[in-house]
Order: sequence, then structure tokens, then C-alpha cells
Amino acid sequence: MAAMWFITTLSLLLLSAGVCNGGVTSKYVRLSERSVDIPVGYFSPPPGFNAPEQVHITQGDHVGRSVIVSWVTPLERHPNVVTYWEAEGNHKHKHAAHAIITDYRYFNYTSGYIHHATIKRLKYDTKYFYELGEHNVTRRFSFTTPPKVGPDVPYTFGVMGDLGQTYASFSTLEHYMSNPKGQAVLFVGDLSYADDHPYHDNVKWDTWGRFVEKSVAYQPWIWCAGNHELDFAPEIDENIPFKPYLHRYHVPYRASQSTSPLWYSIKRASAYIIVLSSYSAYGKYTPQYNWLQNEFPKVDRTETPWLIVLLHSPWYNSNNYHYMEGESMRVMFEPWFVQNKVDIVFAGHVHAYERSERISNVQYNITDGLSAPVKDPSAPIYITIGDGGNIEGIADLFTEPQPSYSAYREASFGHSIFEIKNRSHAYYTWHRNHENEAIAADSLWLYNRYWYPYEERISGTMD
Ligand SMILES: [Fe+2]
Repeated sequence: MAAMWFITTLSLLLLSAGVCNGGVTSKYVRLSERSVDIPVGYFSPPPGFNAPEQVHITQGDHVGRSVIVSWVTPLERHPNVVTYWEAEGNHKHKHAAHAIITDYRYFNYTSGYIHHATIKRLKYDTKYFYELGEHNVTRRFSFTTPPKVGPDVPYTFGVMGDLGQTYASFSTLEHYMSNPKGQAVLFVGDLSYADDHPYHDNVKWDTWGRFVEKSVAYQPWIWCAGNHELDFAPEIDENIPFKPYLHRYHVPYRASQSTSPLWYSIKRASAYIIVLSSYSAYGKYTPQYNWLQNEFPKVDRTETPWLIVLLHSPWYNSNNYHYMEGESMRVMFEPWFVQNKVDIVFAGHVHAYERSERISNVQYNITDGLSAPVKDPSAPIYITIGDGGNIEGIADLFTEPQPSYSAYREASFGHSIFEIKNRSHAYYTWHRNHENEAIAADSLWLYNRYWYPYEERISGTMD
């Protein structure tokens, strides 16, 4: 008995002393959430002939005065108009914006009519109503435009990734929506997981559109493409990468001089958000490389202090799943991230949660042997938030020991909230699905790299 006590105590001591050389690997024991898809029938289309469905909005220009409204009509092309008006005041005059219409075939699937209408010249920080459809199948939604871009404009983003459409995905979205703070979502890729079904069953793209409508019809989600958006399947003669995704999700890429919707930037409130594509060429001389090189000098931290990057495949991941898949992109772009003092990088792909230290690994030159990450006050914090809860399940096998670059990691589903307070401080929290939204499993006051480049204290208070 005494020996048993000794062994148990020794084990606990070793655990608490940290036999690894990194940060925290949470030992939180979660209830198992079902990572199986919710049946297609649950996401039935709205009632009424040709009713508009799968409604979603995103930012429509570079500064937040435009909104792209997208929706699907299943049977007829028309109406293809969105009607909108200011919610407050005496401005009851209704405006209309016409949509472009597209559709596509994928193997034995034919899409409905997919509409994309850009509403322009909106007022900042103003609530609008909008309507789609006609007669007795009119559907009404609303959104609020962001405040004018400026250095101390508070703004709160939700962050989700790898969502899918399982019971766990449902829980993640409900948790995010139960928090009234979130004003827009940064989505780090892998939307529907249609490609996990036979012949990439594109009905799953439709059901996903219906699933997330309750949030994305009312606030913009900023899109970033993941590997599950590729839908590249030569075995069924589907050879055009990203075909369903690019038909369904439009982004304002031309506003940032990008030549592809897979990489672009926007400004929103006090944030400058750069979206990259892990699955498009990024070597020197490629369109994405050239675009990013020209992009960083355009960021004015006196206007948008917070520089945020979204990409799918994480650069600093200590999970066995997808380990080092982001390495070649890190080698290409990390020096720019450090030179330009990116504040935070959100990635997905790995179905677990992880937060890095502020580290960089840019000194290696093949012969100098300096190939380990080091603490770097100019480096971003890297967040892996691919824990939306899709059909592929949790990634619960971390590399051991926990590497020094890893500050906190946990194999649970959840989402994050990024609350910008002013030019120097932002409050970041990660919420696992099995706790009340008010509880944060991981939290941190983030200090801006341009205005307040000091080392963050874990769970500190704003000073
Ligand atoms: Fe992925």
C-alpha cells in the first residue's frame, strides 16, 4: 500500500514538475462528442417555392463599407435581387442590388442557382435589414457594418476552423453564437467536408450552407480555403481544384490587388487581415508570393495596429496529425512575418487546439545548424484552431515531449474569441465546447507588436 502511494505520488510529482520542456498539455478529460454527421434531413431547405437558402455574407471591399450577400435558389434563377434598408431612423427608403448568378456540376450533382450580390457604399457602424425572395417566400435578415477603420476601434472576432456538420460542429457553432460579443468570424478553412463522402457528395455543401446560415446570414465570415475545399478528384473526372468552394464563396480579392480569391486582404475596424492559401503555389515568383511581398508594405500600423494572418496548414504544430505539413510555407514566408511584426496567425487543419509562444525560426542557412525555434518578441503567436468538430474526429495524439515553442495544447473541440480593445491590447480566449461560454480554457492579454511589444503574461490583467 505504501509502495503504491509512493509510486502514485512520484508520478504526480513528475507530471507537475513537467517532464516535457514545453508548455502546458491540458489533461482535461472531456465527454466524447459525436463526430458523426447530422443527417441530411435535419438541414432541410426553407419552406416555399424556390425559397432563397444558404444565405451568407462576407465583407465586400477593402475597408468594410460593402457586403457580399450570397444565396442559393433551388429551382429558378429569379428573383436575383437583394433589397436592403437602414434599420434605424427615418431612412425607410429601400435599395436594391442585383446579383450575378452562377451554377456548376460536380460528377452527378447539379447545383442550384448561386447568387452573389455586392451591396456598396454602406454607412459605417450601421444596422441594415435585407430581404431575399418574393411574395410569400420572402426571407429577412440583418447585419451591422463595422466602424470606420481606425487605430483604437474596438472590435471582436470569433475564430473557428475545420467545422464540418456533425453533432460536435453543431455544439461549436451554438457556443460561439451564445456569446453576444462576436461581430465577425475569422474562418480558417475546411468548411463542409463534402469530400469525405462518396463522390464528394455536393449535397453536403448545401446542407453546410443551411447549417451555418443562422450565424453567417447575420455577420460576415472571413473565408480562408483549406484542403477540404480542393475537391480535386481526377478519378471521377473532377480536375478543377476548389470548384464548389469558388462557386459558392466569393470574397473581395480584387480590392487588395489579388489575382485569386484564395489569397487577399481586408481592413476591418483596427485590424488588417491577410488571408493565404496553403494549397496554392507560394514559391518565389508565384502570384501568391509576389502578392504577399507587395502586401506587407501597404499595412499602416498607425491606421490598423492589429496585423492578423489566416492560413490553413499550421506552421507551429506539435500534434502527430499533419506534423510539419506547413513547413515549406513557413520557410518561404516566416522572415516577412517577423520583419513586419505580425501579431497573430490563426490556422486550422489539425483537429485540436494549440497556442504557441512568440517564437521564430528564421536564422537557419543550411550550414549554421541553427534550426531550432527561439523566443522572438517580433514574432507572432500561432494559434491552431482546427477544432470545430468535423466528421474526422479529434486529433488526440500530441508529439512528446511538448516542444518549447508550444505554450498550451489540448485535444478538445471549441472556438476562440479575439477582442481588440485598443491599439495596444487585445483579449484572447479559447472556449472548449464542454464548458459554459463564460469559461475560457485558455486566455491571454495580447500586446500589440507595433505599439506595445512587451512579453505577455499568462492570465494577466490589462495594464
Ligand atoms: Fe485541413
